[in-house]
Amino acid sequence: MAQALPWKTAWVTGASTGIGREIVLQLMAAGVKVAASARSAEKLGGFGTGVVPIPLDVTDADACAAAAGRIESELGPIDLVVFGAGTYAPVAIDSIDPKLFAHTMETNYIGVVNCLAAVAPRMMARGKGQISWIASVAGFMGLPKAAAYGPTKAALINLAECLAPEMKLKGVRISVINPGFVATPLTAQNDFDMPFLMQPDEAARRTIAGLAEGRFEIAYPRRFVVILRILRALPYPLFFRFITRFVLKAA
Ligand SMILES: NC(=O)c1ccc[n+]([C@@H]2O[C@H](COP(=O)([O-])OP(=O)(O)OC[C@H]3O[C@@H](n4cnc5c(N)ncnc54)[C@H](OP(=O)(O)O)[C@@H]3O)[C@@H](O)[C@H]2O)c1
Repeated sequence: MAQALPWKTAWVTGASTGIGREIVLQLMAAGVKVAASARSAEKLGGFGTGVVPIPLDVTDADACAAAAGRIESELGPIDLVVFGAGTYAPVAIDSIDPKLFAHTMETNYIGVVNCLAAVAPRMMARGKGQISWIASVAGFMGLPKAAAYGPTKAALINLAECLAPEMKLKGVRISVINPGFVATPLTAQNDFDMPFLMQPDEAARRTIAGLAEGRFEIAYPRRFVVILRILRALPYPLFFRFITRFVLKAA
């Protein structure tokens, strides 16, 4: 990516694989100093100079606060964060496991809140900064098998809407990223055809471009997003008829 980007220093979580890893690589190639977080220190080791690995479990609020302090003392004020740490497991209706639901909410939603709490006061005190997190088009509506995952992503979209107007008054921009299907370890476990499947480098490119434009919502691929928005707008009887006929029958 040759374009000049508006950030000097960024923090990316979920950085060891998939979309987060590609975001780190593209920010680094554009000259941004990047701190990269995931639980596995080993997987964070391969980025080379220009990226500071910060191993971290986002469910640990104290570790998130310590990470933000360490990044700012080593790299300088953080201008951009992309919180992408996430987990997904499909749910079968005959094996509803509350522990899986709690783990998914703790990682995907509370993990973002923990990181947000670590950086937002620092950015608001400076009167500038950009905070983003990766939700999903799965947060637009309830979908089969996504009973543990979808609610965490709906919560992340709602969280962004809650905070964006007030944070903007403090000089801090909030963005929510809603990808469709992207070919990563997270989706490799899906046993169905994923429509409009995108590669992670393209997802990262669209994410960074949207963030550089300062957009509130960055959702892709566009055609899939339009179809899902139309589906979401249908009255429930039609919505469920569509899901039963085209999603469940295809599964
Ligand atoms: N792929 C898709 O189709 C898709 C679509 C929409 C949204 N998303 C979202 O995009 C984000 C990235 O997903 P991906 O597809 O790139 O998945 P991925 O390749 O499986 O990456 C997930 C990342 O999160 C890290 N992680 C998981 N639990 C963590 C924890 N407790 N603390 C810190 N890091 C943790 C993983 O590293 P460690 O295991 O080393 O911690 C890894 O770096 C997720 O939020 C996902 O929900 C993905």
